[in-house]
Amino acid sequence: MITGYMEEMDHTLNSTFAGQEIAQRWSDLFIFERTFQEIKPDLIIELGTYLGALTHFFSLHGKVWTIDNMKRDIGNYTNVKYNIGDVFSTKIENTIAGIILDHSKVVFFCDNGNKIEEFKLYAKYLKKGDVIFVHDWNNEIMLKDIEYTIEVENLTPYLHELSIKYNSLLRGWIK
Ligand SMILES: C[S@@+](CC[C@H](N)C(=O)[O-])C[C@H]1O[C@@H](n2cnc3c(N)ncnc32)[C@H](O)[C@@H]1O
Repeated sequence: MITGYMEEMDHTLNSTFAGQEIAQRWSDLFIFERTFQEIKPDLIIELGTYLGALTHFFSLHGKVWTIDNMKRDIGNYTNVKYNIGDVFSTKIENTIAGIILDHSKVVFFCDNGNKIEEFKLYAKYLKKGDVIFVHDWNNEIMLKDIEYTIEVENLTPYLHELSIKYNSLLRGWIK
């Protein structure tokens, strides 16, 4: 079991999408694929662009708003608004709150340096039917870190059984 886990961890480190290094497992992409089919979001928000491989994957499914505090050459993809800034700044918080309101169905992904604080900060802006995911579940973020927010914001587990079955590092909730 531990070997399998380690292999999966190695696989994470070596994952690529369309030839670009991506900080996701293949099972994470599967969970997103299923989510986009079910939710049909008109906006996908990604906190933490890194090299843009997941941004690319997201852009094949619709409009993407992504942000990182380090500018990198991520390539040019249609549907993508690439922003540089700090997700904990008031300016970015207000911008994100506004674009969530301006769209009818949002899938929101916390994949930044501090997933716990991102989740706590942004979960309150979600509308009914929006979905929020965090990455590195049980690694950088655990249930005890966010259970208060989950309860207060009335969030329901989303695709948890599938995420566990396929060893995904994602956990999602729907508002
Ligand atoms: C794990 S990587 C993102 C991986 C990417 N989503 C992928 O799947 O390939 C996290 C990124 O968050 C960025 N970051 C860290 N703290 C940040 C902050 N406060 N605001 C914006 N970006 C931040 C880092 O520069 C880094 O590129």
